[in-house]
Amino acid sequence: MEQYRWHAVADARALQQLAIETILAGAALAIRERGSFHIVLAGGDTPREIYRGLCKAETDWSAWHIYFGDERCLPSLDLARNSHMAAEAWLKHVPILPLHLHAIAGELGADEAAQQYSAMLHTVGDFDLVLLGLGEDGHTASLFPGHDWGTAPGAPDTLAVFDAPKPPPQRVSLTAARLSRTRQVIFLVSGESKHRAVAAWRAGKNIPARAIRPEAGVDVLVESALLASLALPDKQGEFKCN
Ligand code: 6PG
Repeated sequence: MEQYRWHAVADARALQQLAIETILAGAALAIRERGSFHIVLAGGDTPREIYRGLCKAETDWSAWHIYFGDERCLPSLDLARNSHMAAEAWLKHVPILPLHLHAIAGELGADEAAQQYSAMLHTVGDFDLVLLGLGEDGHTASLFPGHDWGTAPGAPDTLAVFDAPKPPPQRVSLTAARLSRTRQVIFLVSGESKHRAVAAWRAGKNIPARAIRPEAGVDVLVESALLASLALPDKQGEFKCN
């Protein structure tokens, strides 16, 4: 059953603030109930200011365990790496235990990095919170239209991607099935360029973001301007749905 809770916010700043509050509330609950907080980070640009805002949080950082929803296969210090963005904005400024920081080794190439991350994830149960972005074509993490999204039960935890339409072409992604094994999912959707993807999503088109189906449903933090109706072309080609 698809269950989307759309949270309209005035602008990017309001989205960042709501995201920070929601993440910290999830962390407090998980740490209180289970003594730890397992969070999957989104890549791209949208989360950067959210990560910066988390630097000032009052929380038990020793209980935080960090994972990545996807990674670009680039050298580990490449500025375009999702792990590099998160480290510069947040992770290197707070006392999260290095043992609890689980970067995807994209520098090894997609196949090897996907295998290694999948092996590590076998030791990890359901996540507490998964953060995800939304691409202009409806992609999320590195699950792209016209590609395998890893939705089937029993799908592997990770996918090696070699022809991603969003550069770089080589990436590693958690599968839709693994990203759905979580107590909470928050999508972070900001920027006029996402209008068509939001309209396609709300019109029921089978974009990759729709493949993320945790039992508790999905919270979508979205700038209210992106919820204005938009005439979508009939042709499915616009959002090559699987
Ligand atoms: C990536 C991300 C990707 C991103 C969306 C939105 O590696 O690029 O994982 O899924 O979240 O493309 O990107 P922006 O936040 O930059 O719009």
